[in-house]
Amino acid sequence: METTGITKRVRTGIFGLDKMISGGIPAGSQVLVIGMPGSGKTLLSLEILYHNAKLEVPSTFITTEELKDSIIDNIENVFYAFEDYIDIIEKNTIQILHKPIIDDFKSKENFQKFIAGDIINALDSNKSKIVVFDSISSLRSVVEDDRTFSKYVTYTTEIFRDYGITSLITMEVSDLDMSTNKTGLYSTSMFDGIFRLGIKDVSGTAQYIIEIPKLRNTAHRLSGAPFQITEKGFDILAD
Ligand SMILES: Nc1ncnc2c1ncn2[C@@H]1O[C@H](COP(=O)(O)OP(=O)(O)O)[C@@H](O)[C@H]1O
Ligand SMILES: [Mg+2]
Repeated sequence: METTGITKRVRTGIFGLDKMISGGIPAGSQVLVIGMPGSGKTLLSLEILYHNAKLEVPSTFITTEELKDSIIDNIENVFYAFEDYIDIIEKNTIQILHKPIIDDFKSKENFQKFIAGDIINALDSNKSKIVVFDSISSLRSVVEDDRTFSKYVTYTTEIFRDYGITSLITMEVSDLDMSTNKTGLYSTSMFDGIFRLGIKDVSGTAQYIIEIPKLRNTAHRLSGAPFQITEKGFDILAD
């Protein structure tokens, strides 16, 4: 961990990204990683956990939709320069858990048991300092409305905050939701930070963009930065 000012920070380990956020994410922050399908949310989260594992910082990656094997395939196919990633998973420094969102979570008590019981026990088991929840979006379809969804998300971030863990919670949104700000999660206090990932069409070629509209206790860059996904990880391009 890095300290700038009085704030302890969790490095992302991605040079250009750490530079955008004064050295890292304030420890204990609840960060929303929001973006369209294919914008890089899963890969970004996996890379951050990798760099932290190299610094002996244990973590948990909760996947609600993809199976563990599919996550591992993804790592092997994309980040093949991270040769020891699979060893790190086998040693449980990064614990990958498939936890589907089920209809039972319609009941608030069941969802609370899932987060405060099941998930927190899992975080305890390898002394996780970082958790990725990929993704929270599917929870929306098991609850009645946006308001209930928002309450569930708040409950989750409150439990993680009390536990003192740094979290990255991904949320998939459509192009339209992004532009109309319909998700309603921006203006609320439930997240300490928001990483927004996007894909822009620049004269026929897809250009990935990362923006940090919010990060508490941090002097952060406001303008978005383009990036590439390479076998050595995310490459934030200077502009
Ligand atoms: N081998 C690769 N090298 C570079 N980029 C890749 C590779 N494989 C997939 N990608 C890109 O990574 C993106 C998928 O990232 P992912 O993190 O799964 O997105 P999300 O979780 O936001 O849906 C896709 O847009 C895809 O084009
Ligand atoms: Mg994903």
